[in-house]
Amino acid sequence: MEIRKGIRLHSTIDNVFNDIRINSGTTHHLNQEKSSVSYLDWNFVPNYEDKAYVAKRNWRKLLAKEIEVLKPKPSEERNYYNTIYFGDLPGELKGVFEELKFAESLYPDDVLGKMKQHQELTMKLSSYMQRYLMDFANNLPFHFHFIGANLPNIDMVACDTTVLPEGYTEEDKKYMGIHNDGAEPTTVHGSYKSGNRFTINLGAETRYFLFVNLSLTQAYNMLRKEKNIAKEKINLVNISELFFKHFPDYPVIRIPQKPYQYYIAPTDHCFHDGSTYGMKNLDVVMIYFGKFQY
Ligand SMILES: [Fe+2]
Repeated sequence: MEIRKGIRLHSTIDNVFNDIRINSGTTHHLNQEKSSVSYLDWNFVPNYEDKAYVAKRNWRKLLAKEIEVLKPKPSEERNYYNTIYFGDLPGELKGVFEELKFAESLYPDDVLGKMKQHQELTMKLSSYMQRYLMDFANNLPFHFHFIGANLPNIDMVACDTTVLPEGYTEEDKKYMGIHNDGAEPTTVHGSYKSGNRFTINLGAETRYFLFVNLSLTQAYNMLRKEKNIAKEKINLVNISELFFKHFPDYPVIRIPQKPYQYYIAPTDHCFHDGSTYGMKNLDVVMIYFGKFQY
């Protein structure tokens, strides 16, 4: 299936589309051999939720016509929910992150440990980030959401830790597969209002951001009009499963996110996930929520 005009990808990096990949769609997680974690004390095959769908691994370069679909025209208005943004952090900010040595974290707990250990630097980082993000914030409020880590070599890293028992281990996690977030209680049609996230790679290695270039509203309309799914049957919780069941050939886009690169994406409003597939080191990310655009 060809990608349709939907969510765009805007970047200030030259030739950004050269490194982006596209595949032939998704499959139920049981139909694809999972990558396994073999890192420090961990050796296991990750578990996935029963209804999880994962991106196929047949990545290829984008065709010129696909770049045309993804690239916003200068005349088109970009906003926080119709565009994914991708770029490099300025050197000054990189310097503060480097001082905190997040990229040297071995265990997920090391990340918070470094912040506790260097409280003054952490405060400095926080005020630098506040200042830096003002340029993207569109005069709207934004806030720090999360800093944390994923183990290397996991196909799709998102998991709902709120349903796990206290003291859960990495092996207990059940990955949800490609999904839409539920950061704010809303509806399919209202999901654009949730805003977007600014995610920075603070690890030592390139990670991946995967997404489907359709808004939830587009996915809903495709299910309604092309597959005759009754509107009562589609909601925020099941829309990803319905979409990937009925449109397994709709491609996924993969952006490699090098250390100190960021992406901004409306993750309540489009199907997406992070991936540490092929990585050897801990994946460290920092996330802010807002209505970022440029
Ligand atoms: Fe997510």
